[in-house]
Amino acid sequence: MNVFHTADPMRAWSEAQRAAGKTIGFTPTMGALHAGHESLMRAAAAQNDVSVLSIYVNPTQFAPHEDFNQYPRTLDADSALAARVGVNAIYAPADAAMYPPGYATYVDVERITQRLCGGSRPHFFRGVATVVAKLFNAVRPHRAYFGQKDAQQAAVIRRMTRDLDLGIEIVEMPIVREPDGLAMSSRNKYLSPGERQRALCLSRGLALARDLLNAGERDPQTIIDTVRNAMNGVDIDYIELVDAEAIVPLDRVRGTVLLAVAARVGETRLIDNIKFTAPDDEE
Ligand code: PAJ
Repeated sequence: MNVFHTADPMRAWSEAQRAAGKTIGFTPTMGALHAGHESLMRAAAAQNDVSVLSIYVNPTQFAPHEDFNQYPRTLDADSALAARVGVNAIYAPADAAMYPPGYATYVDVERITQRLCGGSRPHFFRGVATVVAKLFNAVRPHRAYFGQKDAQQAAVIRRMTRDLDLGIEIVEMPIVREPDGLAMSSRNKYLSPGERQRALCLSRGLALARDLLNAGERDPQTIIDTVRNAMNGVDIDYIELVDAEAIVPLDRVRGTVLLAVAARVGETRLIDNIKFTAPDDEE
């Protein structure tokens, strides 16, 4: 496995691949890899000649009170999984290489970062957009793989990629769930057995909402109220139904919508969502 800790050797490796005519698929992660990350890495390996994984717990997307120090770091297990699923190179930069003294440049994606996670974590998308832009510049991929688990993040990266002419294809992969419906997350490691049970109300609420949408319900408030009723026993941060690209609320379900929830279960903040596309003939 090729492992790089700074941008220059990473970029040199990628340039050599490009010079040999190879396409590069890239999966950015913060490590503590699980089956959700695995599906992204598998798609990157299947759809490109070479596959690159980055592992970096990015300090600029955590607020001071958040779990940056506690965030699980499992580099050995992550490298073993990466090797099994066809990753050819790992980019694992150190903080000093990413944000040296004097660092002063940030990427700010406007509007679509205001609601959902951007509302409750105001620092978050500035940190994400900045680090992903830096990772893209080091890895120089043709395609980059993101999960619908973080649907607003994927929309922000699509917007940034278009706006800054980065010339990278952004591929969004479906949410991978545990057999009982819980969306896989590195943060699920924090949950006690009791909290793990209570956390199921997020995916259950969303499943009820999907049934309503499939049955023809188009009133956002009715759908949101159904999810809210299902999510008793956890501390709700938000339940929002928005246009999936513009991330603005709708007065009626139309086009492709994103129904997204965030809640605190004990000390752990969890997110989940579904997307739904109304049939064309409804317009
Ligand atoms: P991280 O939380 O490690 O997630 C890395 C990628 O895996 C993201 O695109 C995320 O949406 C995807 N992912 C996580 N859980 C998933 C699941 N259950 N099913 C499908 N995909 C899933 O997201 C980040 O890291 C960071 O913000 C990052 C983009 C790396 C920037 O620091």
